[in-house]
Amino acid sequence: MGKLLRTKSVESMIAESEGKSGLKKVLGPVDLTMLGIGAIIGTGIFVLTGVAAAEHAGPALVLSFIVSALVCGFAALVYAELASTVPVAGSAYTYSYATLGELLAWIIGWDLILEYLLACSTVAIGWSGYFQSLLAGFGIHLPAWAAGAPGSAAGAIVNIPAIIISLIITSLLAIGIKEATRFNNAIVVIKLAAVLLFIFVGVRYVKPANWTPFLPFGIKGVLSGAAVVFFAYLGFDSVSTAAEEVKNPEKDMPIGIIASLVICTVLYIAVSLILTGIVPYQMLDVPAPVALALQYIHQDWAAGIISLAALGGITTVLLVMMYGQTRIFFAMSRDGLLPRVFSKVHPNYKTPFISTWIVGIVVTLVAGFTKINVVAELVNIGTLSAFVFVSIGVIVLRKTRPNLHRAFRVPGVPYVPILSALFCVFLMVQLPVLTWIRFVVWLLIGLVVYFAYGIKHSALNQSVDYKSKIAK
Ligand code: ALA
Repeated sequence: MGKLLRTKSVESMIAESEGKSGLKKVLGPVDLTMLGIGAIIGTGIFVLTGVAAAEHAGPALVLSFIVSALVCGFAALVYAELASTVPVAGSAYTYSYATLGELLAWIIGWDLILEYLLACSTVAIGWSGYFQSLLAGFGIHLPAWAAGAPGSAAGAIVNIPAIIISLIITSLLAIGIKEATRFNNAIVVIKLAAVLLFIFVGVRYVKPANWTPFLPFGIKGVLSGAAVVFFAYLGFDSVSTAAEEVKNPEKDMPIGIIASLVICTVLYIAVSLILTGIVPYQMLDVPAPVALALQYIHQDWAAGIISLAALGGITTVLLVMMYGQTRIFFAMSRDGLLPRVFSKVHPNYKTPFISTWIVGIVVTLVAGFTKINVVAELVNIGTLSAFVFVSIGVIVLRKTRPNLHRAFRVPGVPYVPILSALFCVFLMVQLPVLTWIRFVVWLLIGLVVYFAYGIKHSALNQSVDYKSKIAK
């Protein structure tokens, strides 16, 4: 029992990350905000808005985005406090190791693996939608068998573009993060420009008639829509996975997390209003809804530019998400809960080369053969449950370590973190039963892995702190 509840001390985590096993500290607040926006704007806004409008919320899509933003806003505050207190790689996983004990930390880490792995696959599938829309602009159509996963369209067998982009990103990350982040900043600017272009071109064609009836699926539709578009906000938490590479984490992490979330929320509200204002919502259930909307108002030039920018933009999401995933593996393996091979750094590239490729191959297979909404919903449930634990973690750490240095403090503890946890549970409840079943199966597999491997190999078994504690 003691083993399951043992925690890692915050000081030892920070010391460890500063020691030789740590990563280089090169990132500042602007880099972090860019990293955040790079991770946030992507498949969610460019692709999932279509399903969310057509099948869930209708023109009230904007309300779904607002509900989701509220949930994320609370979670972002909580993340900001933990990221500024425990600035080491691994995000929610690391925080809970310091607060809630090893077993819960493992469960959260396992959740995050689900989140990041499947988010990468979701994003790759979204990329494929825009890629094919762009090809169609040139009159090129892929054969039906190669255009999507089984069940996504008649005759579809495998999503070849999704497979190709996943492999390209894996190779990029395997040879070095510095090259990858440089690439990120340039593309974030293009992506923001594309979203603004859509807003400025689209706003003149809005027909308020398209907004009535505003709630064709009622409030229930707005809420289930919120649980789907939640995906569009994911990524602000991945800012915290880069904590070990930040120059001044106490100040810069909260700025990076909150600034990127606020900027994206404002943009999403504008995009969802305009999207449902220019096209009847029933038509939006397509792989590239934003491009479709512009074609609908005969602005094909803008549709082309935006498809191209969306492709670039979605690519950076993949980069950041996959990067986040390898860093979570890195942290869990450094702690001994996963085999050492996941934290092995390549002698020349200085990257976790092997784990990057393992992640890349799994992402590729899922992206090639699964439908987008199935993976997106699983990502959302995994992430929301991690947010619940992180929120509780803040309250626990305030109690157990009241004097720890916190550059950013969540206002209104314990109420704000409690609300944050409740909001997350509320969104989880909106997801389909099948998603819950898949999620529970994943958790059970995680428990088996922990009891068969992690508990025996945990680095805490060797830790002097822990040994002296149990000797007492
Ligand atoms: N928020 C990210 C996206 O929309 C995951 O693609």
